[in-house]
Amino acid sequence: MTLATHEVRWSAGGQMIVDGVTLTVEPNRVLGLIGPNGSGKSSLLRLLCRLRKVASGVVTLDARDIADLPRRELARRLAFVEQQAATEVQLSVCDVVRLGRTPHRGAFASWTEVDEHAVDIALKRVGLAARHDQPWHTLSGGERQRVHIARALAQEPRELILDEPTNHLDIQHQLAILTLVRRLGLTCVVALHDLNLASLFCDRVGVLAGGRLVAFGTPQEVLTPCLIAEVFGVEVVIRESTPGRRHIEYVVEHEAGDHA
Ligand SMILES: Nc1ncnc2c1ncn2[C@@H]1O[C@H](COP(=O)(O)OP(=O)(O)OP(=O)(O)O)[C@@H](O)[C@H]1O
Ligand SMILES: [Mg+2]
Repeated sequence: MTLATHEVRWSAGGQMIVDGVTLTVEPNRVLGLIGPNGSGKSSLLRLLCRLRKVASGVVTLDARDIADLPRRELARRLAFVEQQAATEVQLSVCDVVRLGRTPHRGAFASWTEVDEHAVDIALKRVGLAARHDQPWHTLSGGERQRVHIARALAQEPRELILDEPTNHLDIQHQLAILTLVRRLGLTCVVALHDLNLASLFCDRVGVLAGGRLVAFGTPQEVLTPCLIAEVFGVEVVIRESTPGRRHIEYVVEHEAGDHA
C-alpha cells in the first residue's frame, strides 16, 4: 500500500484543472505521468504531496488521508522535486542538499554524521560530489536540477515525486537520472514529456488530458499510435527493434524546399 487518489478534483480560476482522477501507485514501482502542456500533471503532483488541497476526493498514503498526516511524518515519507524549483542564491550546493535532512532532525538537534553521510551519498548519486562547496548561483541549469534531485534523495523518502526531472539535462544525464530513479526501488511518480523515456523507464503510465486520466496501464498498453494521435495530435510509428524494446518514431512531413 502506498500512494493513491480517489476521484480527486482541484480547480483554479474557475476552471477544473484536475478532474476526478483515481489511481493507485504500486509500491516500489515507477509511475510515469504524461500529457500535453496544461493537462494537469504538475497540479496533480502537487495534490499528491499536499502542496495543494483537493477540492473533493481524497489522496491516501498507506490508506490514510494525507490531509490528516502530521507535516513532519509526510515530509519524512515523501519527497518532491518541482518542475522549476527555485533556491536561495546565497546557498552552496551542499547547503541545498542539507535542506533535505530537515524532516529527520529535531528543532534544535545538531547536525550529525548520519546527516552528512546522507548528503554525501545523495550528491554522489547525481554525479555532483565534486561540486559540494560550489555556490548555487554558479551552477548550470542541468546541474541545478540534479542538486534538487540530490536534496530529495537526502530526505531518504519512500515516495519520490518528480516533475519533469529531465528538464535541462543532456541526454547522458537524462538517462543517468532515470536509471538512478529505477534503481532506488522507491515508489515513484514522475511527470515526463519524452514518450520514449516514459516507455523505457516506467512500469506504469498514466495519461492526463484536460485534467482527466484518460489512460492507465503498462507503457505497451498505453502508448499506442491511436492514443498518441488522440491526446497529442501527433502521428507515430512504433518499432520494436529488440523484443520488448519499443521505439516511438514521430512522423514528420517536411515541406518542399525544407533542408533534407
Ligand atoms: N493557480 C492557478 N490558477 C489558475 N490556473 C492554474 C493554476 N495552476 C494551474 N493552472 C492551470 O491549470 C492547467 C494545468 O496546469 P499544470 O501546471 O498542472 O499543467 P502541466 O500538465 O503540468 O503542464 P506542463 O506540461 O506545461 O508542465 C494550466 O492551464 C494552468 O494554466
Ligand atoms: Mg507541469
